[in-house]
Amino acid sequence: MSIRTATDYIEDVAPGSGVLPPRAWYASSDAASLSLNGRWRFRLSATADAEDDSFAEPGFDAGNWAEVPVPGHWVLQGHGSPVYTNVHYPFPVDPPRVPTENPTGDHLRVFDLPEDWPPDDAAVLRFDGVESCARVWLNGTDLGEFKGSRLPHEFAVGHLLRPAGNVLAVRVHQWSAGSYLEDQDQWWLPGIFRDVTLLHRPAGGVLDFFVHASYDHVRGEGTLKVDSDVEGRVTVPALGVDVSTGEPVTVPVEPWTAETPTLYDGVLATEGERVPLRIGFRTVALEDGLIKVNGKPLLLKGVNRHEWHPEKGRALDSETMREDVLLMKRHNINAVRTSHYPPHPAFLGLCDELGLWVVDECDLETHGFVEQAWRDNPVDDDRWTPALLDRAARMVERDKNHPSVILWSLGNEAGTGRGLTAMAEWIHGRDTSRLVHYEGDINCRDTDVYSRMYAYHGEVERIGRRLDGGDHKRRELPFFLCEYGHAMGNGPGGIADYQRLFETHDRLQGGFIWEWIDHGIRDERYGFAYGGDFGEELHDGNFVCDGLLFPDRTPSPGLVEYQKVIEPVRFESDGADGTVRVRNMYDFVDLSALAFEWSCQVDGETLESGPLSVPVLAPGESAVVKLPQPPPDARGGETQWTVRALLAADTAWGAQGHTVAWGQFRVWARPAVRVAPSAAPVPGDGRITLGPASFDARTGALRTIGGVDVTGLHLDVWRAPTDNDMGAEWQSDVRYGQLWRELGLHRMRHRLDAVEAGDDALTVRTRVAPAAREMGLATVYRWTSDGTRLNLTVSVAPRGNWTVPLPRLGIRLGLPGSVNRVRWFGGGPGEAYPDTTSASLLGRWDSTVDELQTPYVRPQENGARADVRWAEIGGLRIEGDPEFWFSARRWTNEQLDAAAHLTDLTPGDTVWVNLDHGQHGIGSQSCGPGPLPRYFLWAAPAEFSFVFSETG
Ligand code: GAL
Repeated sequence: MSIRTATDYIEDVAPGSGVLPPRAWYASSDAASLSLNGRWRFRLSATADAEDDSFAEPGFDAGNWAEVPVPGHWVLQGHGSPVYTNVHYPFPVDPPRVPTENPTGDHLRVFDLPEDWPPDDAAVLRFDGVESCARVWLNGTDLGEFKGSRLPHEFAVGHLLRPAGNVLAVRVHQWSAGSYLEDQDQWWLPGIFRDVTLLHRPAGGVLDFFVHASYDHVRGEGTLKVDSDVEGRVTVPALGVDVSTGEPVTVPVEPWTAETPTLYDGVLATEGERVPLRIGFRTVALEDGLIKVNGKPLLLKGVNRHEWHPEKGRALDSETMREDVLLMKRHNINAVRTSHYPPHPAFLGLCDELGLWVVDECDLETHGFVEQAWRDNPVDDDRWTPALLDRAARMVERDKNHPSVILWSLGNEAGTGRGLTAMAEWIHGRDTSRLVHYEGDINCRDTDVYSRMYAYHGEVERIGRRLDGGDHKRRELPFFLCEYGHAMGNGPGGIADYQRLFETHDRLQGGFIWEWIDHGIRDERYGFAYGGDFGEELHDGNFVCDGLLFPDRTPSPGLVEYQKVIEPVRFESDGADGTVRVRNMYDFVDLSALAFEWSCQVDGETLESGPLSVPVLAPGESAVVKLPQPPPDARGGETQWTVRALLAADTAWGAQGHTVAWGQFRVWARPAVRVAPSAAPVPGDGRITLGPASFDARTGALRTIGGVDVTGLHLDVWRAPTDNDMGAEWQSDVRYGQLWRELGLHRMRHRLDAVEAGDDALTVRTRVAPAAREMGLATVYRWTSDGTRLNLTVSVAPRGNWTVPLPRLGIRLGLPGSVNRVRWFGGGPGEAYPDTTSASLLGRWDSTVDELQTPYVRPQENGARADVRWAEIGGLRIEGDPEFWFSARRWTNEQLDAAAHLTDLTPGDTVWVNLDHGQHGIGSQSCGPGPLPRYFLWAAPAEFSFVFSETG
């Protein structure tokens, strides 16, 4: 016989007890509210039952307890530590049981009511988010308990309130039955991490309401009907609307879209309360096998957004939420999947206001059951269905009045089962105005869209062509990638290739990059900490840092690349014919909000610029626009057009002049780089001199170029493997990052075969190969000079059986550590790799060695600038024939490789410069496909040259 104890609720599969039914989340105009955010008394226990509940009694003395800010996670506030796992539950899987070691935080807050708090007694206490299970007492009365961490829960408390000295006690358990439903890939972060609010509920006040606001794109009319639990009137002054609740009204309106987020202010007035409404009229439909809004198919240019702040975890303040939306808008992102739980409700308000399509996802993931082939999965066990339905209802009821939400998602990676079907049925019944998504429903039994994650380009193309099979229902449905482009470390690569597919096949309605932000935790030891840094016994390392933003919200090169790939205006031209085709890639708006300009660069320097007149193109339309004549003095130099689309005026999210899209087209090619060999190598004193350079006579090693000391110049094929090079362990494809190391490409040996001083060249012959392997690279350095400039031609011929591509192919050389400033003519301003070059803008750039580094949370290859014609660094000018990849850092590639955190990298007394002829692609194999074959750097015969000279 088992004995029920005071903590049984923790392992009860039921969602909770004592809580009010879910309802819409709104801020009243006239009902009082009291925020209970702030400093709370806090006591942490190691188990759920270590302390009795006497702390909830009025009069309890918590004077010696710690204090924590609410909202917050106690593990980020100096009490215990966070744990990161991806798929694994960090406790034994035995649902619904949880470990005895169950960190439990008792929270206590004493508050007075404001003097003007209305004397009648109705009030509710709302918790917007508590992880993972809370039991609540007010003034000693047990109100009940709940689970569902990222969902709101309310209690009726009016009858318990006193004017002063109210004692609110909340016991929070880190682990509960609910934890089995919350196995998202993120930190486990217990605490009261969203707002706690006391809301007065006036007699006759608004309870719950549902704003139905559709748009008829043929007639240009919106139909509004507000269903309300409590009758009242709905007024929308700008539309002249004044109707009863439940009464439909049709009026001409401007529709809401993510591109035109028109909101009409209205009021719902019941006898006792006025509630402001922000109404967006739009109709979401599945039509012709496509997701359409207001009659038009969408192309989703999305990101997956977890809530993250490097110090506060998932306790986000409103400025951070706004910053996220602004950053998304400025980077051309038009959609967000709230992976993998409903966000703070204020975030959705910002999406309504600034314009983003939202896939609102339920707080549900049971991924860890995959380890046992999904046996005992709660989503296929009727005992859990009430909890699942509770979660679905809490999401839908809370968020139903947001026009930005166009799809409901049942959750993420929870397998399949009856519980999911029940959720989908309930949602479809409750809200017919939106579609239902769930990626795990591979045949779309319960869902309205076909969704996948990390599908390879080839498969996506087949889906686009409707050649993917599947059952009849699925074949009729639209497709999007709910996750793709895994942005872990350097990358993602290959997203431009996906975008081309999305733009080619109607059925492909875009996708959502995984993910928005790295979940690094700010930490003195490491800069940003990741899994394992807190001594977790089970963890998934830096897999938690896979975002387009660094943890401090600095955009990573991946975001800049994505911004360019999804730009809403396309410029196409071959440059030479003096015209450019401008294409409007928006779904809804014409181009009247944009101003256009052209400029002409010769050798990277802008000679002329001016406005470009572009007709007001409707969505999907394009026009050919004539460019001016290139300036007459352009002849002889490399000449190109740059055209830009800019915001013509300030908008809610961007300033006038913000670049929305750009294109570059070559007019005249780069003149060849030539050094006529005229100087002869001159031996003497252990050295050989050739033009401005001197070499070691025995080894042929370059020593100086003019007054500049050079060390360690040799062929380099190694790069510190990126997360995408290393690949995910479950990937069945070859993971080259692993193979490279296995083969020893990080420890290549350079055998000197000959140093030959000829009439007009110094030739150094070597063989570069790793120990224990038969394959190698026969490498010849041929030095020539015209007396002032020094030319190096490197010839590389693979020997033996190369079964892998090379990480990189080029030379490395060392310059004195005092070097800092770098100038170059080539791609910039940021890094680029073969399959991440979209945002690389050809021009003249100025930077420093330190600024060239991209601070990936786990250090790895970074910072290469593409298509470099010439670079100047440390008194040297280096010209490439052909263009090269340039990088420079204060540590070697081997040191970069050995570092686990940025704080492991310390500058040495040499700046190491890599001049690469080739780089292997980046791809997305940390959770997806590797680089497409065309971005492979196969070991093949190669020849490339650099011309060195001293800068003036
Ligand atoms: C997906 C999952 C995400 C995340 C991602 C890899 O399978 O839905 O939550 O784990 O992989 O970073």
